[in-house]
Amino acid sequence: MTASATTAWIARDAAAVWHPFTQHATWVEDRPTVVERAEGPWLIDVDGRRYLDGVSSLWTTTLGHCHPEVNAAVTAQLAKLDHSTFLGTTHTPGIELAEALIASAPEGDGPELTKVFYAGDGSSAVEAALKIAYQHSHQTGRPRPKFVRLEHAYHGDTLGAVAVGGHELFHATYRPLLLETIGVPSPGDRALGEHRTEIAVDELRAAMRSQGDEVCAIIVEPLMQGAAGMLDHDAAFLRAARELADEHGALLIFDEVATGFGRTGRMWAAEHAGVVPDLLTCGKGITAGYLPLSAVLAAEHVYEAFLARPGDTAPRTFFHGHTYTGNPLCCAAALAGLRVMAEQDVVGRAARLGERLAELLEPLAAHKQVAEIRRLGTMVGVEVRPNSDRTGFEVCQAARERGVWLRPLGDTVILMPPLTLGEAETGLLVTALAEAVDEVCS
Ligand SMILES: Cc1ncc(COP(=O)(O)O)c(C=O)c1O
Repeated sequence: MTASATTAWIARDAAAVWHPFTQHATWVEDRPTVVERAEGPWLIDVDGRRYLDGVSSLWTTTLGHCHPEVNAAVTAQLAKLDHSTFLGTTHTPGIELAEALIASAPEGDGPELTKVFYAGDGSSAVEAALKIAYQHSHQTGRPRPKFVRLEHAYHGDTLGAVAVGGHELFHATYRPLLLETIGVPSPGDRALGEHRTEIAVDELRAAMRSQGDEVCAIIVEPLMQGAAGMLDHDAAFLRAARELADEHGALLIFDEVATGFGRTGRMWAAEHAGVVPDLLTCGKGITAGYLPLSAVLAAEHVYEAFLARPGDTAPRTFFHGHTYTGNPLCCAAALAGLRVMAEQDVVGRAARLGERLAELLEPLAAHKQVAEIRRLGTMVGVEVRPNSDRTGFEVCQAARERGVWLRPLGDTVILMPPLTLGEAETGLLVTALAEAVDEVCS
């Protein structure tokens, strides 16, 4: 890869930019892709090379890039209202989106989700949910300062979200700064063996029995711990978490930032288990992957604990929010995305795409250098056996040479394509990965 436009832009980038989750000592020699345009599932670089976006631009793009209907909705909104604060005023796209999210909310064992609190990114939705849970305990009995979290969890990078994480590489450094939490083994942790669900449930039960009256919430990425490298777990764990939260008066938070909006082949991962949390965080695909927006869907009983009139003993207000909360352009993109999803049965298509990926990946699962392939819907982790410090990364570089852009999590190569990916592109995605694994790992 020697084209001059890429080289020039990388030099300018390296001189001025500090990228997230990036080791800059090797950035230039790794020759990052300099993206100029995108269409459908394709990213196009400054030299005109096309790459299939195999991870939906970090798990966000649901319908493909620059979708005509979403583009039109954002453009139309831009002509009407760019931004007005959600503190003290409201606006129609924000109201309509809240209604649409509530209408889409999961149903089953648990409360109805009836209110939407907007935030900006996945992390800020998690941050809001944690503060709501703690303040809720304050206002319904007595303050419960602890959270139960899962090992290997990832809920974002702000300090509250890091506190409830369990990804050692990302989080260990910050432990001295963090909230009090109780870590429970992950029900997806293969090191626990085939009884991992029971082990995790037993540990959760023991934690709640000993410290449950200090716990305001249990937080879980339902069914798939994404950033852990796609560690899937059994729905039985979510049912047990619901029961134990209820038994001990704690809230249950499902973080559906990665799993929401059709990713798992259902609108919400919670639907696979028939369990509804008290708070559900979502982000990423909410705007079809266009603009930063996230939300906390809350149960009515939680919302009601925050109501008070002037003169009441406590204000009970949730004193939390961001300047761009509920930005109308973001809401317009989200509304258009949800409309297209409903009209084109995108959730059903995602379920079928997941099945097709499973079929195509079957031969790779037998590859001697592949340790395991884990999948739920269109969320796939292909764990390769390392032969260097950066085997996963090298596989992704080799896939890029074949026209597919991927990003690994350690030795696990992630596939998370747009939910509407066509048959030919699905074939290319898997073929490029298989060839890359052959080239790098054999
Ligand atoms: C489950 C989960 N929660 C929260 C986040 C954080 O979202 P953001 O990066 O938008 O802050 C992520 C990001 O990958 C995630 O996977």
